[in-house]
Amino acid sequence: MEHYMCKTWDELEAEIKGCKKCKLCQNRTNIVIEDGNRNADVMLIGEGPGADEDRQGVPFVGRAGQLMNKAFEGLGIDRSKLYIANIVKCRPPNNRVPQEDEAQACLDYLRNQVLLVSPKIIVLMGSTALKNILGAEHKITTSRGSWIEKKGILYMPTWHPAALLRDDTKKIDFWHDFEKIIAKCDELQIDISK
Ligand code: URA
Ligand code: SF4
Repeated sequence: MEHYMCKTWDELEAEIKGCKKCKLCQNRTNIVIEDGNRNADVMLIGEGPGADEDRQGVPFVGRAGQLMNKAFEGLGIDRSKLYIANIVKCRPPNNRVPQEDEAQACLDYLRNQVLLVSPKIIVLMGSTALKNILGAEHKITTSRGSWIEKKGILYMPTWHPAALLRDDTKKIDFWHDFEKIIAKCDELQIDISK
């Protein structure tokens, strides 16, 4: 059955506020909904809030987010021209991967966000984003760096920024993937530059 979709941001925010649809509600400080531009043509999807995001209520403000920001600075990308969200909106304990039931409970909200933003490009950062959005059969190691078109949206899977902290060689891939995104934006006359 199709879930009811909110037609306005106010309506959606009201629905998410105080959500207790999954067990991740138990340990959260803040529900982390979004950052950036609600009219963006490019949307980024991560996994879920970490400790810093939970504290501040904003996605990608911790170590991984800061590394991502540094990459964007080097690439000339303006973060505020993108829309940023996660698979789950409440922090999983010890930053573990969101479980199937948690991701499923939260995905309706993310789908609603996608509907309202209506992006042309969605960047799937890491395995959790890739598998939950495009299907469990997709592997980040083989999918990253190539465009996948589905229902009029262009998807670019890439490494999660936290993976770059653990493995330096992934920084080069991440950089190249975003160069492809910049080139596609040029082609589609989408402005994400500083
Ligand atoms: N990692 C994520 O996947 N999302 C955040 O918001 C922060 C870290
Ligand atoms: Fe609700 Fe999502 Fe938080 Fe679970 S993670 S409680 S579904 S907002």
